[in-house]
Amino acid sequence: MLVSAKEMLIKARDGKYAVGQFNINNLEWSKSILQAAQEMNSPVILGVSEGAGKYMGGYHTVVGMVEGLLKDLNITVPVSLHLDHGSYEGCLKCIEAGFSSIMFDGSSLPIAENIDKTTKLVEICKENGMSLEAEVGAIGGEEDGVVGNGECADPAECKLIADLGVTMLAAGIGNIHGKYPANWAGLSFDTLESVKNLTGTMPLVLHGGTGIPSDMIREAISLGVAKINVNTECQLSFAAATRTYIESGKDLVGKGFDPRKLLTPGCEAIKATVKEKIELFGSADRA
Ligand code: 13P
Repeated sequence: MLVSAKEMLIKARDGKYAVGQFNINNLEWSKSILQAAQEMNSPVILGVSEGAGKYMGGYHTVVGMVEGLLKDLNITVPVSLHLDHGSYEGCLKCIEAGFSSIMFDGSSLPIAENIDKTTKLVEICKENGMSLEAEVGAIGGEEDGVVGNGECADPAECKLIADLGVTMLAAGIGNIHGKYPANWAGLSFDTLESVKNLTGTMPLVLHGGTGIPSDMIREAISLGVAKINVNTECQLSFAAATRTYIESGKDLVGKGFDPRKLLTPGCEAIKATVKEKIELFGSADRA
């Protein structure tokens, strides 16, 4: 059964570790991430961007697929199915489809409108027993065509949004989606500390988990980050393993072209990446 992310994040915050959100794109991604989490005995959050939801056929398809996998693979660790960077309309659609968690990304809106829409969603999520993530300060880089600059959030605005009763808060601290450029300034721990000081016990979310050095990840967790999002890194691992398989001509030998063979190295690579992150985030054996 899918669960809200609330309980797993409170436990993570109190236990000083973080739960990974790994974005899914299809059956192979979903199955690999769920198997990795189960083998590591770790709670996990499956992230779905609006673009990925559309790609998979729609939100009902995503819910059906993930719920089916939980049963058929006997997944017993806590799993949350979460809309990533949702629009207001996207959030409503995912609530209706049966997601257990949503993120409303109002970071590009004027703060008054972000507050207004987040307030409405707080109520709806409470009624449905779902968790809600809000965002202040755009996360940089490009995701599904949405481009941001890696802002640092205004801690006072973070407090305004946190006080609305959201479950978790994503605050921009110089992080960006995708690969980090060579001249990246690193995470702003001063911003993170100020946000933490003003938002108190609110579990904080770190987006753009791909490529952040391990010591920065550990420091972010020590300063209140309880959820870390990873997307690009699984895509890179999958692509590299698939490239090796094809370039070594394995698809041309026997039935090597069978998708169940051709996609296996990529799936194994996703599993390895997810396990590595679970280890780094400290959520192994916390199910
Ligand atoms: P990366 O693609 O940089 O890992 O970021 C993922 C993310 O933050 C999803 O919201």
